[in-house]
Amino acid sequence: MRLYADRERHLPQIDPEQRGLHLGCGAALFNLRVAAAAAGRMPIVRLLPDESDPALLAEVRLTDTGYPDEVLARLHPAIPRRHTCRRMIHDDDLPATVRETLCDAALREGSRLVFPDPLYVRLILQLVRDVESGEAPAPGAPSREHDFGAVPVVHGRIRAPFGDRPRIALLGTVHNRPVDWLTAGQALERILLQSAQDGLVASLAFQPFEWPGLRWAEDDPTSAVKHIHMVLHLGYGPQGYPTPRRPVAEMLEIA
Ligand SMILES: Cc1cc2nc3c(=O)[nH]c(=O)nc-3n(C[C@H](O)[C@H](O)[C@H](O)COP(=O)(O)O)c2cc1C
Repeated sequence: MRLYADRERHLPQIDPEQRGLHLGCGAALFNLRVAAAAAGRMPIVRLLPDESDPALLAEVRLTDTGYPDEVLARLHPAIPRRHTCRRMIHDDDLPATVRETLCDAALREGSRLVFPDPLYVRLILQLVRDVESGEAPAPGAPSREHDFGAVPVVHGRIRAPFGDRPRIALLGTVHNRPVDWLTAGQALERILLQSAQDGLVASLAFQPFEWPGLRWAEDDPTSAVKHIHMVLHLGYGPQGYPTPRRPVAEMLEIA
């Protein structure tokens, strides 16, 4: 199976490097691996197998040899249940075991998930608010839409309002190449499915760290992740609702 980026769906204004595109496709790739494991097959994945074709993001061979990954297979029921939550997520603390499981999910996918301390979270949220009110951008930074707040800035995306102590986690990798974005995308989906399985809900934002003026946060020595790809808001709250998907016939070509 070959996974291709759909360049027509690329959003140059909010995703100039195509990082979001790779993250989203990485998440889809993880679902494919989970589905394969649930069907008793072993997926062998090569990321970016063809240098001359950067749109070819992954090649997956399904084999019958070896043991399917039971841990992945157990995540399968969470695929249709997981939805981005756009309503109030409670501030209740996440039990340490739950946080550890999510950090472990990221590590298993070659990425890091960190739960910054409350001071750092406040700084991140303050930055995000500043960006929303137009006060923070770096000189010359292009103006971009983003919606890491309570306001529905992007059509169809309404973010849950934050409480006083939101549980924010940062997902990152050591390097910042397309292959790392695909890696982080798989980690993201693993975290999201694990969260759904553990009864959590989540919402996402990645635009704040796209902004050149906000790069400082990535260089913060207290941060265990070098390149942050996604900010996750995790917690307990009402389940989200399904987002319409493109018809399978538009996405899947059987040769
Ligand atoms: C790479 C990527 C970036 C995203 N960035 C944002 C964002 O900045 N703000 C937001 O509200 N949702 C963001 N999302 C969440 C998507 O809006 C959401 O996944 C999509 O609407 C599909 O809904 P679902 O997660 O319920 O399937 C992002 C998702 C991905 C994969």
